[in-house]
Amino acid sequence: MARLKVGALVSGRGSNLAALIKACEAPDHPAEIGCVVSNVATAPALDIATRAGIPTSVVSHRDHADRETFDRAVSAELERHGTGLVALCGFMRIFSPWFPERWAGRLINIHPSLLPAFKGMHVHRQALEAGVRVSGCTVHFVTPDLDAGPIIAQAAVPVMAGDSEETLAARILRQEHLLYPLVVRWLAEGRVVLDGARVGLKGLPPAASLLFSGEP
Ligand code: GRF
Repeated sequence: MARLKVGALVSGRGSNLAALIKACEAPDHPAEIGCVVSNVATAPALDIATRAGIPTSVVSHRDHADRETFDRAVSAELERHGTGLVALCGFMRIFSPWFPERWAGRLINIHPSLLPAFKGMHVHRQALEAGVRVSGCTVHFVTPDLDAGPIIAQAAVPVMAGDSEETLAARILRQEHLLYPLVVRWLAEGRVVLDGARVGLKGLPPAASLLFSGEP
């Protein structure tokens, strides 16, 4: 069977991209990373893709007059590579409504909190200031509302006394690298069913969409 072609959008470091590339290298994996598109020419994520032999392109938001024009240029790159699923991997641009509508049901993001808590920026600072005992990450479909699309899966980690933004971020990031590839696999296997604002998972145990790590 043809593998699902994933187009990854990046702006920076690319550790989630690296985790997806590694997972897709398994010979029986039902997905492959077909292209990587960055809005930042110097993003280290582009080097990760190049080293893995994945086609890359840079579409700079600075070269486009408005958000929708930029979104259409990014979309054209994704289409050129036969993309079936778009995975945001640290992509730091806010879309116009056009983009999530164009890719509705085929556009996912990973966010480093247990949504709907702590949307937007400085997520770990928000979590520490709120005094929560548990945080984590969320993989969700992207809709025009920021960090608010239907949730597919989450991974939870403890917040430790003495945590800084950096220590909490690192603990969550280790879970991101497990959760994102897992969800991409489920999507490629056709297990993820979008039903309005909620997501169902076919043929998986009820607790499959929650990972929990007690590691410090
Ligand atoms: C991750 O923390 C992810 O949750 C958020 O942006 C960060 C990207 O990191 N959306 P990386 O580029 O994947 O290393």
